Amino acid sequence: MKRINIALDGPAAAGKSTIAKLIAAKLSMIYVDTGAMYRAITYKYLQKQKTEDFNQLIDTSELSLTYDETKGQRVILDNQDVTDYLRENNVTSNVSYVASKEPVRTFAVKKQKELAAQKGIVMDGRDIGTVVLPDADLKVYMIASVEERAIRRQKDNEERGIESNVEQLKQEIADRDHYDMNREISPLKKADDAVTIDTTGKSIEEVTEEILSLVSDIS
Ligand code: DC
Repeated sequence: MKRINIALDGPAAAGKSTIAKLIAAKLSMIYVDTGAMYRAITYKYLQKQKTEDFNQLIDTSELSLTYDETKGQRVILDNQDVTDYLRENNVTSNVSYVASKEPVRTFAVKKQKELAAQKGIVMDGRDIGTVVLPDADLKVYMIASVEERAIRRQKDNEERGIESNVEQLKQEIADRDHYDMNREISPLKKADDAVTIDTTGKSIEEVTEEILSLVSDIS
């Protein structure tokens, strides 16, 4: 199979990362979770008492992704592995704001483009098909009802030992979608040439198969 890049975009908790990991494993590709980069910068922003100087925040940040055989993608920020902190509620509730800032996006998008230059990447996020990889070989836009996304996120949180409740998650997901879709720079939207997959009521296996069949159509 020729080396390809796959862009997977969509709103919060639509199942992108679960599916992207499976696709990457099946096709021997590398999965890049771009949300984790924005989360890492948000983690630092919180450590800096919510500084508004985003240029300085970025200029003093060293961010890289590494890959662990068992744990998958790890995020290294200023020589520290911060991956385990990135799903904490405080990070989640501030990440859309931080990700809307120009210095933050320029920094993250540059790194993402570099990572994808070698091809063989499955990348998920909000602006992958529109901004980061406009030439991706396959673009998928994944959606699901807010209700189902909240229930999935609740399960996810339970497994990670993070406390949450479905009603609150529904509200948070809806708020985050609104913020991500309405920000000025690279808002979340479907690329014109992306295939939309509504995962509501579908199993992980079904969605994975659907995408794998799209991949075989292009290769
Ligand atoms: O996929 P996630 O929930 O980890 O993403 C966290 C936030 O980061 C999301 O609310 C918006 C932002 N994000 C973004 O702006 N662009 C991306 N490519 C990925 C995430």
